[in-house]
Amino acid sequence: MSSRDSVEDSKSPLRVAIVGMGTVGTAVARILTEHGERTARRAGRPIELRKSVVRDLRKSRGISLPEGVLTDDLEAVIADPEIDLAVHLIGGIEPAQEILMRLLEAGKDVVTANKAVLCQHGPELFARARELGRSISFEAAVAGGVPIISTLAQSLAANQITSIEAILNGTSNFILTEMLSRDRSYAEALREAQKRGYAEADPVMDVDGTDAAQKLVILAELAFGTRVPLAAFPRQGIDALDLADLQYARELGYTVKLLAVARLGNGELEMHVQPTLVRHDRPLAKIDGAFNMIAVEGDAVGTTWYSGPGAGGPETASAVVADVIDAAIGRAALTFPLLDVRRNSPLPLKPAEDVARRYYLRFHVEDRPHVLADIADVLGRHGISIASLIQHEADEPNGGAQSAEGADGAAIVPLVIMTHRTAEGKLRAADRELDGLAALRPPRIRMPVAD
Ligand code: NAP
Ligand code: HSE
Repeated sequence: MSSRDSVEDSKSPLRVAIVGMGTVGTAVARILTEHGERTARRAGRPIELRKSVVRDLRKSRGISLPEGVLTDDLEAVIADPEIDLAVHLIGGIEPAQEILMRLLEAGKDVVTANKAVLCQHGPELFARARELGRSISFEAAVAGGVPIISTLAQSLAANQITSIEAILNGTSNFILTEMLSRDRSYAEALREAQKRGYAEADPVMDVDGTDAAQKLVILAELAFGTRVPLAAFPRQGIDALDLADLQYARELGYTVKLLAVARLGNGELEMHVQPTLVRHDRPLAKIDGAFNMIAVEGDAVGTTWYSGPGAGGPETASAVVADVIDAAIGRAALTFPLLDVRRNSPLPLKPAEDVARRYYLRFHVEDRPHVLADIADVLGRHGISIASLIQHEADEPNGGAQSAEGADGAAIVPLVIMTHRTAEGKLRAADRELDGLAALRPPRIRMPVAD
């Protein structure tokens, strides 16, 4: 019996298996077992946790479950006709994708938090679920506890969405906040994010922009009816930034955020995920720690903001259990088919080279005559105008705390340039020429400004 069939009988329990009992799975099990009365009241019927699947039965989960619930026998759970709904909470692509497909094939509705799988395999999984008359719910896959999927799919359905600007990775936002406000090193802040359960099993995806980009693909499909492949738009993480960049940005009146943007203009979709300077007084600049924020602009409503915890066990479990309740009520069965919002002809992507913004550029340069003039000359010949610059004096002549030595004993000092609005393509061309300037040393940092 599926959740859809059993909705006829509002008192029959929805029988659930959790596949994956890590940070999120354990928190979901806790809500289902400790707040059964509350969830039953909201769902109009009991929600019964039948099985919880793990790989390693010896690992402590910090939760006591009824005898026989915890199992490492995934095959038995897939084959069990008495499981109506699977809560799929394993990360990565494989075997997570294959397991999700097999759960559907076995006749179960699925709730998942796995954005990596939905980003890469969403279309085929959704198509198969529809053929089978099953549903996939995924509120927790984007922005953790913030209900942005139902907002885009239902609450803003009257609008043509015109832009999404968002902080979508809790780990990156936590690291940026910790570095700047608590003077923690990048490595220390990342370790703390892992300890708190914010990071993916492989945290590279968090800090290199992949996780935020996967979530943006999902939001853009709901908002614009177009599925954009991950590789089709620029994606950059926070892993190359130094504390100095965050401090310079603050000096200039900005906060650095890993910003995911999808914007509709002149029939083209602009998409990118990049560390970005956001003016201090904008709501997005004020989002600290593992919180996420999504600013959504619709043609009728204007701009609306959604923010809250983007990662963490109980925070994410809040969204997962809401999806389970939706399935128990029968709401998921009604709304899932309507999520197929794809246009007949996909929106074209705006070429990255044509996207025009102001930019923050940080160079490491030899502190000697004409270096600034050389850089300004390259930028100027590519039509890039300088708006302001910061160069602090080296601590001591010919070296100092912040500097290595260049040719002729010249100190290496940071130089920060803010440009006027310019196209990304012009900057890329200038970058190639800047590579040839002997007085420049790596790294070179380039971040757009969100105006
Ligand atoms: P996690 O802590 O790494 O837990 C993963 C769980 O899956 C573990 O219990 C593991 O079992 C189990 N597992 C892995 N492969 C399995 C397999 N082949 N068969 C059976 N069980 C398997 O992950 P998480 O942080 O809870 O995240 C789960 C999902 O939610 C991911 O897709 C993640 O992107 C997403 N998500 C996480 C957060 C967050 O804040 N953590 C927020 C939103 C979305 P063992 O414990 O026995 O190894
Ligand atoms: N690792 C993710 C993050 C979890 O830090 O945002 C939420 O998807």
